Amino acid sequence: MDETQPAARLDSLQTRGVAVVFGASGGIGRALVEALLASHRFDHVVSFSRTTAVAIDLLDEASLERAAAFAANKGEIRLVIDATGFLHDENQGPEKSLQQIDAAKMARAFALNAIGPALTMKHMLPLLPRTGKAVFATLSARVASIGDNRLGGWYSYRASKAALNQLVRTAAVELKRRSPNAICIALHPGTVETGLSTPFQKGGLEVQSPETAALRMLEVIDGLGPDQSGAFLDHLGLTIPW
Ligand SMILES: NC(=O)c1ccc[n+]([C@@H]2O[C@H](COP(=O)([O-])OP(=O)(O)OC[C@H]3O[C@@H](n4cnc5c(N)ncnc54)[C@H](OP(=O)(O)O)[C@@H]3O)[C@@H](O)[C@H]2O)c1
Repeated sequence: MDETQPAARLDSLQTRGVAVVFGASGGIGRALVEALLASHRFDHVVSFSRTTAVAIDLLDEASLERAAAFAANKGEIRLVIDATGFLHDENQGPEKSLQQIDAAKMARAFALNAIGPALTMKHMLPLLPRTGKAVFATLSARVASIGDNRLGGWYSYRASKAALNQLVRTAAVELKRRSPNAICIALHPGTVETGLSTPFQKGGLEVQSPETAALRMLEVIDGLGPDQSGAFLDHLGLTIPW
C-alpha cells in the first residue's frame, strides 16, 4: 500500500464482519485486499485465488463452494468483491474481427467471465446477512456496454462481460427478496495498469494505478444504497448504459 494513499472509510458497513476478495492475485484484486486491510474496518479480510491455501478456480464449482464455507466460518460477511476476470493469455487474445472467433476460445471467455462469477454469486449471495447493508460487487468492464459499443471488436470479452452484467442484475432481483438491504452490482474499475490491460492501453485514456482504482471503487461501494442493487457503475459511481 502506498503510504500517501488515504485509507478507505467504508463507514456505511455498520458492523465489522468479514470482507472477501476473489481474484486476490490479480493487479486490482491485490490492491483491493491491501486497501481493505488498511481500512481496519473488518475483523477478517479473506483472500482467494488459485494460489491461496484455500484455492479457487472459476472452472471448478466445488472450489468456490469450499471457499464460501471457509469465508462463512470467519463471521458475518458484509462485503464480497469478485476481482477475477480474463482478457488474454498466451493462447488467446481479444478478436479484432468476426473471422477470428474461435468457439472453444469464446467458450473459455464465457466460462471465466460469466459462468465462474455466476457460480461465485450462487455460493456467496446466500451468505450475506438478511439485515443491514452488505455488498457483492463483481468487476465487469465498460466495453460490456451494448449501448456504448461504438468501436466493435473484442467479441468474446465484450459478450461474456455483458452476460455477467445480466447475471448480476438477475441475481440482484432474487437477493432483494431475502436481504432487502444487500446490494449486488457490476463495477467497471476504469483503465488500470495491470497485466490484463497493459498490452492494450491507448493514448487519451486515464490509466490509474491499482491502488487508486481500489480506493475509488471502495468509495463507490461505501456510498451505495439498496436502490442501486442491480446497477452497472464505474469507478466514479456513474451509471454505465447497459
Ligand atoms: N485492468 C483494467 O484496465 C480493467 C478494465 C476493465 C475491467 N477490468 C476487470 O477487472 C478485473 C480484474 O482485472 P485485473 O486488471 O486485475 O486483471 P489481472 O491482473 O489479470 O487479474 C485477473 C484475476 O483473475 C484471476 N483468474 C483468472 N482465471 C482464473 C481462474 N480460472 N480461476 C480463478 N481465478 C482466475 C487471476 O488469477 P491468477 O493470478 O491465478 O491468474 C487474477 O487474480 C477483471 O474482471 C477485468 O476484466 C480490468
